[in-house]
Order: sequence, then structure tokens, then C-alpha cells
Amino acid sequence: MAKTATKTRTAYVCNECGGDHAKWQGQCDACGAWNSLSQIALEPEAKPAARRDGWAGKVEAPKVTALREVRHSEEARVSTGIGEFDRVLGGGLVEGAVVLVGGDPGIGKSTLLLQALAQMAGALPGLYVSGEESLAQVAGRAVRLGLPLDGLHALAETGVERILEHAAAMRPKLIVADSVQTLWSEQLTAAPGSVSQVRESAARLVRYAKETGTAVFLVGHVTKEGGIAGPRVLEHMVDAVLYFEGEAGSRFRVLRAFKNRFGAVNELGVFAMGEKGLKEVPNPSAIFLSGGSTAQPGSAVMVTREGTRPLLVEVQALVDASPLSNPRRVAVGLEGNRMAMLLAVLHRHGGIGVSDQDVFVNVVGGIRVQETAADLPVLLAVLSSLRDRPLAEKTIAFGEVGLSGEIRPVPNGEERLREAATHGFRRAIVPKGNAPKAGSYKGLEVVAVERLADALAAAE
Ligand code: TYD
Ligand code: MG
Repeated sequence: MAKTATKTRTAYVCNECGGDHAKWQGQCDACGAWNSLSQIALEPEAKPAARRDGWAGKVEAPKVTALREVRHSEEARVSTGIGEFDRVLGGGLVEGAVVLVGGDPGIGKSTLLLQALAQMAGALPGLYVSGEESLAQVAGRAVRLGLPLDGLHALAETGVERILEHAAAMRPKLIVADSVQTLWSEQLTAAPGSVSQVRESAARLVRYAKETGTAVFLVGHVTKEGGIAGPRVLEHMVDAVLYFEGEAGSRFRVLRAFKNRFGAVNELGVFAMGEKGLKEVPNPSAIFLSGGSTAQPGSAVMVTREGTRPLLVEVQALVDASPLSNPRRVAVGLEGNRMAMLLAVLHRHGGIGVSDQDVFVNVVGGIRVQETAADLPVLLAVLSSLRDRPLAEKTIAFGEVGLSGEIRPVPNGEERLREAATHGFRRAIVPKGNAPKAGSYKGLEVVAVERLADALAAAE
């Protein structure tokens, strides 16, 4: 008999976006990244035929069903004991959910999950699988964090088959795999850490989670270059993807839901890293301000509304004569393309050119702002730096800037104004569509602007 079954089938996946390709190619069709494809071996025993046998036999075949007749229930949720973590998860951890927690090395992923595991030990007996640290290190950290050791079980193992054997014996309701990059499966010959190993190991854990109703946290390191197998390829497989962000040197950390089958995306949880690990910051409103009391040139405060609550965030710009023929455009915490677009609008519709200037824009505190409400404050910060004149003290701004120079309203205007008023701001430059008719809001003078020129005039 021909041994066709032993022939390993291969495919190619993009390290950046996880896109699948049948053949190698230089550029990923899905996301456009270059040289990002890695070869992976597909599981040799993946036999669709076996399933068909099952359907024909005793196993009931899937059939088309009216959704109204499908029995369902609200997902049972368990609190992680950390309010900000629950918020990002959409109100607690859903049983059987697989959650990927990504972030730079050293940001605090292991700390957060160990704390959550200890808090949940009563409701969901957990197993911490450490592929990076020894058990002594894990125990040492738990002691330093002042966590109760009784309910904590750990395993230093990287082979996914053995991890699942232990899980089958111990039957935890929650598994933390730290990190997914260290896991490997005997089924594949590729080196641990390669895309195929990461993908296959994660797939095993996902299958186990779904079959047994065990919740799983996968920890993944994100590399800026995406050079080694990043957790990006896993985003499709899991129920939720959370990213842990923060600035080196800042003690604040932001956990953001990037994908969530059980809750809202872009929800933020805010933490502060301290002596005793991560502490939640339940009222983070003003922590992303630089703290200086007097207004500085190049600084603008915005009210962003990432997730379900407003946050005051400071945007800083530095505009400086460039020695380069192609001046630099650097955006930290904002999208670079968006900033380039805004500078073009500033030139065309505001009559202010910065083509001979380097422009640096930074969002204070290491937070990333993704909504378009940042457009107007970014331009005001740029203008303020260019003129070397601070904006009027206690001023906030928000608003989307369109390509024809119009200032567009953004969602939840009133809530943003309320937040600014609560924190003692006195003046708000906002889109006309977000401004109250009265021209003021709880002691806040509201300047309604329709065109970029109006906004620039209001800020001068
Ligand atoms: P860690 O959870 O190991 O990060 P990750 O798993 O994302 O790589 O956190 C490491 C950093 O956190 C390390 O630089 C030390 C710091 N840290 C504290 O400041 N306080 C603490 O109580 C702990 C446990 C860590
Ligand atoms: Mg770690």
C-alpha cells in the first residue's frame, strides 16, 4: 500500500497577521507585510474522512436548526477578583474561554495572571504552567506578592502533550500557559518558538478548553519587529485578545481588549505596578496628564473615550526646524498615517505648513489612542509647539478632522464635557455637533467649531 498518509502537508502562515497561504510568497496577501511567511507543518492525522464516518454512524450529524429552538444560556462568568481585569474581559471570565494576553516582555503579564489565579483559586481551581520560570521563581514571586499559596498549583513544563496529561489528571478549571512561545508539541519536528509549534500547541489547548470547559489564558510576547513567532497568528483561534501596554519608566499599565467574543472591544483596564504587584486604578481619569500645573507650549489635553469611560489624556507635540530634506514625522501612541494626514489638512485648510519641520507627537503615559477624537487636540498641540505659545490654561479639546477641513462630532460628547468639567477644566474646543446650545456646560465655556480655521482661531 502506498504510504501517502505519512507525507506531511505544509502551509505558510504570516507572522504578522496569521493569514494562511498555500505557497510561499514574498508578501502576505492579507496584510501586505514583506517576508513574513513561515512554513508550518499541518497535523498529519487531520482526517476529515474520520468525521464523515462518525456522521454516518452513531454520532448525530449536524443539522440545520432554527436558532429559536437552540438551547442556550447566559455565559457563566467568574470574577477575577480584580475589577479592572473583569472590566476588560467584559464582566468576568467566561468558563471555557480562551484568552490571549499579549504584551512586551517585562510589562507584567505573569504578575497579573498569577494574581488573578490566586484570587480565583476558590471559584476556579487553577494550574499555572510556567515555561519560562522555574517553580522556585514562581513561588518566590507569589510570596513577594503576598498571595495565598494554598490554592496555587504550578507546573514547569513546555511539552503540550504532557501539560494536557497533567491537566486531565488534575482537572483544573483554569489553566495559565506562560508563555505560549515556549510550548511545543511532539507531533511536529519544528523548533519550539516557531510559528508552527506555537500555533499547534495553542490549537491543542484551545481544543482541550472547548472539550472540557476549562478556561485558558495564553501569555504571548509581542516583538516589535514580529521577527520571531508572535502571538498574532493566534488571534483567530482564541475568544479574546488582550494587550498589556505601558511605557518603560511609567508605573501605569493599560490592559486593552482588542478582540472579545464576550464583551466590548477597546475596553481599557488601568493598573499601577508597585511593590506588591499590580494594583488596579479604578478611577484613572486624570493619570494620563503630565501633571504640570501651567500650560506648556506643545501640549493639549483631550478627553478620549476608549471603552466605556472617558479619560483625560495629554497629547504633546514638538515641532522643530529640520536639518533633513525629508523631515521626520514620529507619532507615539497614535497612528502615524493619521498624523501625516492631519498635517496635510493643517497646511491645506489652516494655511500652516510644517514641511520644513520635524514633527514629533506623543501621548503621555504610554497609552495608545485609537479614536479620531484625537485629531483636533493633535493639531492644536502641533500649532502650539510651532508658535511656541501654550494653549489657554485649563483647556480641553476633542473632535475629528475631515479631509476638507471640517470638524466632525464624535460619540458621547456630553459625557466627555462632563468629565472635563469634573476635573476643573474651564474651556473646551469641540465640534459644533457636540456642543450644548447654551454655550457652556457646568461651568465649562464651550467653544463650538465647524471648520479647522475656527478651531485654530479659538486656540490662538
Ligand atoms: P512580569 O510579570 O514578569 O512581566 P512579563 O511576564 O510580562 O514579562 O513583570 C516583570 C516586571 O514587573 C519586572 O520588571 C519587575 C516588575 N515587578 C514589580 O515592579 N513589582 C512586583 O511586585 C513584581 C512581581 C514585578
Ligand atoms: Mg512573564
